[in-house]
Amino acid sequence: MAIAPSDLDSALIAILADGEFHSGQQLGDQLGVSRAAIHNHVEKLATLGLDIFRVTGKGYRLAKPLQLLNSEAVKTNLRVENQHVLMHLQHVTGSTNDDLKRLLAEQSELSAGTCVLAEMQTSGRGRRGKAWHSPFGSNLYLSMYWPLYQGLNAAMGLSVAVGIALAEMLAAAGIEGVSVKWPNDVYIQRKKVAGILVELEGQATGEGQAIIGIGLNLSMPENQLAIDQPFTSINQHVPEALDRNWWASELINRCIGILQTHDQQGLQPLIALWRKYDHFYQQPVTLLLGQHEQQGIAQGIDEFGALLVQQEDGIKRYFGGEISVRNPTR
Ligand code: BTN
Repeated sequence: MAIAPSDLDSALIAILADGEFHSGQQLGDQLGVSRAAIHNHVEKLATLGLDIFRVTGKGYRLAKPLQLLNSEAVKTNLRVENQHVLMHLQHVTGSTNDDLKRLLAEQSELSAGTCVLAEMQTSGRGRRGKAWHSPFGSNLYLSMYWPLYQGLNAAMGLSVAVGIALAEMLAAAGIEGVSVKWPNDVYIQRKKVAGILVELEGQATGEGQAIIGIGLNLSMPENQLAIDQPFTSINQHVPEALDRNWWASELINRCIGILQTHDQQGLQPLIALWRKYDHFYQQPVTLLLGQHEQQGIAQGIDEFGALLVQQEDGIKRYFGGEISVRNPTR
């Protein structure tokens, strides 16, 4: 369930983000509430996972300074042609995909590229019913709206395209060992750095609407015991401190760019790029299809985004977000 923090919580986080000490009295004066109220709100923020500590005589501070997302700063780095994109930024939410679905239900016309971003998700979700761990202020959690004028069939290609956009973005930042795992997970040196969850609205025939949810680890705290697979974050692979707002703009620019290419030309011009990053290309793979398994040698993707697998009786095409692909030897 989404926890909606009050404006006061948000204001408190904004003050504490500098990582300096702030006394309860000073915070109370700034925010127009009592010291006791500050104490209660700090406790509430701690339950959201914010690492706030208190030293008698000095006050409260965050264990580490936080760079909060800021819509104006994100806009500054958006390409001119993307500056009209509507951005809804919030501190804590359940899932940005759900927020975007709500927006879609409320407003009959959303413009392509409309985004919801959050500092933290309390019910972030991934593919195949998994949770997506979304601690406060460390990563990017973004959902983008994209209309599917050619109907829901275009969705598979679109989800593969966004995986390529992320891989290209990481490689352009000088990161080595970037790969994509079908259908759209992104890895750095064999550890997951980003995941994409595309959810669809609309009828099987006619126009559809895609909600493209992206979780990108910028600086995931190391102690995430609940994550059940090797993971990494961008900050472990670039020398400079990360500017979260820049990465958010870059992500939006690159997604919109590739989605427009996909609208105009489909996946065909992107197949070679997929091959460049393809984690499984020419590798033995095991496909988990519900209770069933299939073995074969991965042969890349086709122009619809299907996974091609060489099997005893020829090359087979596999579709669908519920398939899990493993490399049996690793
Ligand atoms: C996966 O790899 O399983 C996909 C993860 C997708 C996570 C993102 S974070 C933003 C958006 N909101 C969600 O609840 N999920 C997606």
